[in-house]
Amino acid sequence: MSYILDPAWADERDRLESLSAFYDQGTTEICDRLGLGAGWRCLDVGAGTGSIVRMLAERVGPEGEVLAVDADTRFLEPLAGGPLTVRAMDVTAEPLPEGRFDFVHARLILEHLHRPADVVRSMAAAAKPGGWVVVEDLDWSTVLTIDPPSEAHERVVAACHKLYAGSAYDAWYGRKVPRQLREAGLTDIGIQAVAMPAQADTERGQPDWEMWIGQLAPRMLAQGLLTQADLDAFNRQWHDGETVGFGPLMVSAWGRRPA
Ligand SMILES: C[S@@+](CC[C@H](N)C(=O)[O-])C[C@H]1O[C@@H](n2cnc3c(N)ncnc32)[C@H](O)[C@@H]1O
Repeated sequence: MSYILDPAWADERDRLESLSAFYDQGTTEICDRLGLGAGWRCLDVGAGTGSIVRMLAERVGPEGEVLAVDADTRFLEPLAGGPLTVRAMDVTAEPLPEGRFDFVHARLILEHLHRPADVVRSMAAAAKPGGWVVVEDLDWSTVLTIDPPSEAHERVVAACHKLYAGSAYDAWYGRKVPRQLREAGLTDIGIQAVAMPAQADTERGQPDWEMWIGQLAPRMLAQGLLTQADLDAFNRQWHDGETVGFGPLMVSAWGRRPA
């Protein structure tokens, strides 16, 4: 398993919950659009802190089934029960259960994997005929959209890309998702995309950027990709009370296994 983020990082739960707080609404809207409801069998791949599987378990009710898989199930175990089952699994090493689910979902995991297309195929095989596969991942195309222009922000983003180059993380994965769904044999492809707005706050800074960079900064400094002065300038910028920018574009795409 490869993962640029350190799962043992003390603030990992906060980081994941902050992602959920913003992105859950879009995922819920996709569930509405696909008609997800009572009795559906669902699978969430890389379920994290479980915000999506909790929503799914409520929707499918006692007649349905929700399987949450993750390599690290520490946040999921306490949620198990009723329709919700938790399974520890490295999805790059084991196949998912085949032909079983009405809805198979993965968010913010495939962009971290060396061969995401293999997992997309495994997800397509996990859907039953007529079942839906939904993949949601980031594309860093929007991160330099910032006002006023900021060299500090540009330097930090450039350091991120250099760090990613030595890892499995694909900062341009979002745009590839619809193609990978088609290549896995799925039809009726749909796409939506949204970028998280970021506003500098004099008290709080920009917590989403700071949590991400906070986790990568020690490696960026150690590898000489960034100086402490760059980091300080980045932090000042996001505390100036004026700067507005955007996080990466979240690309959500779905497709159906042919009946
Ligand atoms: C950024 S989190 C996203 C969590 C959740 N899907 C969400 O969007 O809120 C990525 C999750 O994928 C899990 N993960 C990473 N690599 C994995 C692998 N090879 N097999 C299973 N889970 C993995 C991590 O443990 C983590 O919980």
